[in-house]
Amino acid sequence: MEEQNRLPLIGDVAPSFKAVTTQGNINFPEDFKGKWIILFSHPADFTPVCTTEFMTFASMQKDFDDMNVQLVGVSIDSLYSHIAWLRKIKDLKWKNMENLEVTFPLIEDIKMEVSKKYGMLQPNSSTTQAVRAVFVIDPKGIIQALMYYPASAGRNFDEIKRLVQALQKNQNDGVATPADWRPGEDTIIPTPGSCGSAKERMEDKAEDKYCLDWFLCFKREK
Ligand code: BEZ
Repeated sequence: MEEQNRLPLIGDVAPSFKAVTTQGNINFPEDFKGKWIILFSHPADFTPVCTTEFMTFASMQKDFDDMNVQLVGVSIDSLYSHIAWLRKIKDLKWKNMENLEVTFPLIEDIKMEVSKKYGMLQPNSSTTQAVRAVFVIDPKGIIQALMYYPASAGRNFDEIKRLVQALQKNQNDGVATPADWRPGEDTIIPTPGSCGSAKERMEDKAEDKYCLDWFLCFKREK
């Protein structure tokens, strides 16, 4: 049976593959072990929404470098199309962005192997263009989050950055992050696993913690 659009899920080992990219050949995700990875697809080169997305991602490159995040793009286009499009993007000016160099690898996926492995090809949307998928993969190669958008709606790159910041905080400090959390804001202490620990946490008067109720306790971050 033909390999078809299986969607890797949160907690899965990121499917591996070898690919040709605008930055040379890659062995994914092994080449990026120790880093967080954002693997994202776009429907096609030289299309308007995708162009604004690439300009935005390229403009945020330093933020992602500082966060130890490797960006990796993919679309069902040839390497030569990718190269020509990225060269064109450098000439474009939009909002406050100009002279942008896309330095992260963009995968040539003419055979749709990567798109199929990551469920990026969704046939009721298109059989020849990937949808806008985002996979956040942790330094051990485990998928921690995924997002899917249709071709018509450009993604919010500030939210993608915020998501990775939250995932890093979750892993590094063993805390959860509340709605709309931003770095520096209070975090959530995992829920208690017994009646005893529920009672204990309500009686705990530590200054760096506060509870709205037994199941909703925050850790002060500043
Ligand atoms: C775009 O990037 O503008 C686009 C690509 C594919 C379908 C629709 C829009």
